[in-house]
Parts: sequence; C-alpha cells; structure tokens
Amino acid sequence: MKRTHNCGELRKSDVGKKVTLCGWVDRRRDLGGVIFVDLRDKYGKTQVVFDPARNAEVHKIADTIRNEFVIQATGEVQIRPEGMENEKLSTGAIDVKIDELVILNKSETPPLAINDPKEECKENDDLRLRYRYLDLRRPWIQKNLMLKSRLLGETHAFFRRNGFEEIETPVLCKSTPEGARDYLVPSRVNPGKVYALPQSPQQYKQLLMIAGMDRYYQIAKCFRDEDLRADRQPEFTQIDLEMSFVKQEDVMELLDGFVKEVLARVWEFEVPEIPRIKYTDAMLRYGSDKPDLRFDLPIFDVSEIAASSDFGVFKNVVANSGVVRGLAAKGCVDFSRKQIDDLTEFVGRYGSKGLVWMRVKDGDEVETQVAKFFTKEQLNSFRDAIGGKAGDMLFFIAGSEKTAATAMGQLRLEIARIKGLMDSNVRKFAWITEFPMFEYSESEKRYMSMHHPFTSPLPEHLDMMLGGNLKDCKAQAYDLVLNGVEIGGGSVRIHNPEVQEKVFRLLGLTEAQVKEKFGFFVDAFKFGAPPHGGLALGLDRVVATLEGQDSIRDFIAFPKNTSASSPMDQCPSEVEPVQLLETHISLNVAR
Ligand code: AMO
Ligand code: AMP
Repeated sequence: MKRTHNCGELRKSDVGKKVTLCGWVDRRRDLGGVIFVDLRDKYGKTQVVFDPARNAEVHKIADTIRNEFVIQATGEVQIRPEGMENEKLSTGAIDVKIDELVILNKSETPPLAINDPKEECKENDDLRLRYRYLDLRRPWIQKNLMLKSRLLGETHAFFRRNGFEEIETPVLCKSTPEGARDYLVPSRVNPGKVYALPQSPQQYKQLLMIAGMDRYYQIAKCFRDEDLRADRQPEFTQIDLEMSFVKQEDVMELLDGFVKEVLARVWEFEVPEIPRIKYTDAMLRYGSDKPDLRFDLPIFDVSEIAASSDFGVFKNVVANSGVVRGLAAKGCVDFSRKQIDDLTEFVGRYGSKGLVWMRVKDGDEVETQVAKFFTKEQLNSFRDAIGGKAGDMLFFIAGSEKTAATAMGQLRLEIARIKGLMDSNVRKFAWITEFPMFEYSESEKRYMSMHHPFTSPLPEHLDMMLGGNLKDCKAQAYDLVLNGVEIGGGSVRIHNPEVQEKVFRLLGLTEAQVKEKFGFFVDAFKFGAPPHGGLALGLDRVVATLEGQDSIRDFIAFPKNTSASSPMDQCPSEVEPVQLLETHISLNVAR
C-alpha cells in the first residue's frame, strides 16, 4: 500500500496517528522556512507541513517540489493551532507533520491554473480541452463526473427494480432518422457502402419489443452531426427505454417514479406531482414547448381586443389571421427607454417586427407610446386581459401565431433573466403532451415528423391523418422538461404496418424509398408487433440542468469543441492514404 489514507479523510480523531498520503501538490507556500503544501487527490485536500526543525533533509527535498508534482508523504497527524483551522476543507482541523517524502513524479508548470475555483477559471475553452486531463483534475469538474457516475448507478438499480433488461444495440448500423445528419463509417469489406452511427437506438429498441423482450433499457451513446450549442454535443448519452403493452400514461408514470426515486434522491429535492401541459397550451401560455416554470409570467392572447382597435399594426395582423399576445412584466414599470429599446431589438431576433409597451401607473392608469390609437377603455381592457396591475410594464407583440408565440416566449425568459427569477436551486419539471404529429418545414417545403416517423397519432386523430390532414393531427408524443430544458422525449409508437407505411408516404417517401430505407422495419411489424412506447432522457442534460448549468460540456469527460473537434488528440484527423484505399474512399477537398 502506497497510502494509508486519502487526502479527504483525516479528522481530529486521527490526531497522533502515523499516516502516509499520496497526491498532487495543489499549492506550496514557504512561510519563513516552514513549507506548507496542500496535497490533493479525488477525495479532497490535506495540508502537509515540512518543518526544517523536525527533519532538515526532508525539508530540503520539499523545497524542490512544485505544483502538480506527485508525492508520497509520511508523518504524524496533528491538530492545527487555534485560529489556523480551515473550515472550507473537510480535513481543515488537522495537518500532517512530514518525516518522509518521496517524489513519485515531477510535473512541468501546468498550462492551466488547476487550483482556481470555478468562478475564476479564465482559460479559453480550447486550451482547457487541449489539456483536458489537467482540466479534469479540477475538483469542481471531478464532482460533475462523480455525480454522473452516481446517477448511472442509481439508474441501473431503478430499471432493474422495475423489471427492465439492459440490452446493447449496434453502433455500426443503418441510418435512423432523428432529424440530424448521420456520422458515416465506410465499410472495407463492402466497397462503396457505409454504416451510420446511431442517432438513437430507436429502431432496434422497437425490434426488441417485437422480439418479445417486453421492457428494455440501455445507457446508449448517440451520434448526431448537427450544429453544436451549449446543450448539444455530437456524441452524447441517452437513458433509453422501451416498454410493451403500454399507453402513454404508463411511460410517463414510470418516469415520474424515476424523477422521484432517482433524481430527487441524488440531488436531494422534493418533487410535487409533475404537471402535464398540452403542447398548444404551453405554446400559448409560455410561448415555448419547453416552458421554464420556475416563474409564472403568463402570456395571454389579446387578438380580439386588438382587432377592435384603430391601431393599424394590430388590426392588420389579426385581419391576416395573425395574433396579438401580451404579458404583464411584474414590477417593471420603471424600465428605461434604453431597456425597452434593447427588448425591442431582442424580440426582433425572433422575428417580431416591434414591441408595444404600456406602463401601468399608480391608480392603474395606462401610459403608452401608441396612446393615440386607443381609447382609454381599450387600454384598460388590454391591461385587465393580461392581469396588469399598478407597477407593471405590459408588452404586446403582433405577428403570425408562430412568431408571436416564440418572440413572446423569449421575451418572457429575458424578463425573468433581468428580474433574476431563474433560481438554480428551484427545480420545476413538466410533461408536455399532444405534440403535433407533423411540422411544416419552410426550407424543405414539406411536412416532417415533429418527433420521429415511428410516433403514433392520437387514436382519435388517426382518421384525420389517413385522410391527409397533417396540420391538425396530434401525436401520442411527450417531452419531459426541467427548468426550460428538454431533458427527454418519447412516444407511443405505431405498431400497425399499414399505418407505418402510410406515415412514411405522407412524409413524402416513395414506395421504393420506404422499401429501401425501412423495408426490414415494416416487414418486422407484419409478424405480430405488440403495442409499445418509450422514451429517452438526455443524460448529460439531466445532470447539467440539475446542477444549474447551461452547458453540458463540463459533465462529459472528453467533449468536443464548437467545431466538433477535440483539440487534445486532434480528432477528427487525416488518415494514411492506405486506409482511404482500403475503405474505398477518394477525398474531394480543397487543400
Ligand atoms: P430525442 O431526439 O428527443 O428522442 O432525444 C432524447 C433526448 O436526448 C437529448 N439530446 C441531446 N443531448 C445532448 N446533445 C445532443 N446533440 C442531443 N440531442 C438530443 C435531449 C433529448 O430530449 N429515439 C427518441 C426517443 C424515443 O422516442 O424514445 C429520441 O432520440 O435531452
Ligand atoms: P410603426 O407603425 O412601425 O412605427 O410601429 C409603431 C409601434 O408599434 C412601435 O413602437 C413598434 O415597436 C410597434 N410595433 C410594430 N410592429 C409591431 C408588432 N408586430 N408587434 C408589436 N408591436 C409592433
């Protein structure tokens, strides 16, 4: 044994013991001849002391050690003198007087200030990623990885308790449509052919239900070639599950249990019943299908009142089947001209052509930049329709239903940011249900699946869909949302091969394309597919959101940067010409 204790372990009760510690030099201070070193490992930090009066030779060696040297130090635990305790350290009541020192390894001066607390971490992202193994020495990142590890352990236990089998699915597979581009892997033995890395194990898990496995789960790596953002990585992990003979409610109830028995236990919080909100209601009231419910700030439709006014902007929008939406920003009556201009510019980024504001003064009187277009009664109706009170600033946006909802939803979030309403210690979950089955893509000029093409319509909308009404057809699809982040999504699947085939056709695939892409899948459904449904949680997002972070990067040991590459191992990289030859690839890139 190289050590008797770890660096987070020693307490007052250990005083007098002879101990050996191993770890990295976190910080070294020379105070008038006595050298103090904070020794660090995964478990914590312990102060070790080299006193020349105790052992001159050891002190001389200690004089040569620098930050990030790896050392083994043996000595006696002693109580720290009064007033010298460090309450921030679990070992802060003691230190260790060292009698023997072995330098296990030296270190060059590290390019990162490893012992800086998170708030003071100043290095740019690419430098951190280039030396990620040093970045990962930081206690606050190690904590993230340990949390995730603990969650994984609890997750396995939860699914085992509930009768799920853990089954692995291929990583080299046929393309699964989840709305992103595939990562492709060329085949050496099949010239000109490629595998796709899974965007999710969706089709395999459905085939496992057809195979009669009844309840499947897997901690699955997924790969999506899409534009990266703080909450998106090209490879990420899903807690993926599928269940046979279930309705939507059964899947949601299982997940309610997961939130209560796993998440709430690991993060130590209370979960009241998770509200279920229909997509249409969420879009109206919160302007988002992933509403942040830590604060209220509801949005209201005021199209009817707007239509009766003389304000051209409002009237015309409503006359052209648009809408007018408003919200009362509580206690914001004193927003300055500049703040309003900034907000107008802000909503412009989400497509709004402007922003009407009204201040509710003392006595509930309404003051606005567009006063001349409205009667006093109309202004009062706007105020009352959205619950405006003295001290509030009212905001209104006119536009198409989609633009008005989205811009208003973003404005709602921005006001919450300004007012500091996004408390990271508060956790608000919500289920969003009854998503549209299809979504019209302006760029592709066709309808696409909102979730994925294996999702079943609401039973009462099946005929509508078969009749070709894609616009109004709602799906048995549901998302789990936490503090405004989509942490999971799933659906009840189509299990009837004719309906599945029809959905592919409605999505614009020809018969030949269906056969080529999904033939094996549609065939499988002809041999007795049970009704089934499931869901996938984004593991990285779950942990980051519960930790109050927007970015999932610090919850992944070796993430990619925003250009999907890794500055540490320089991946992706070029390969030897012979490898290209073997895999039948000829490159077509300007050099
Ligand atoms: P979906 O595409 O909604 O559903 O993905 C499920 C969850 O995975 C997370 N997620 C991501 N996390 C990090 N980086 C990404 N690039 C990324 N993309 C998605 C999100 C999301 O809610 N097969 C279906 C599930 C099902 O129907 O059972 C699926 O993959 O938190
Ligand atoms: P305009 O008629 O463009 O000068 O706009 C008059 C006021 O109405 C300005 O304060 C604009 O910000 C606001 N406005 C214009 N278009 C919209 C809209 N679509 N929604 C809300 N306010 C708008």
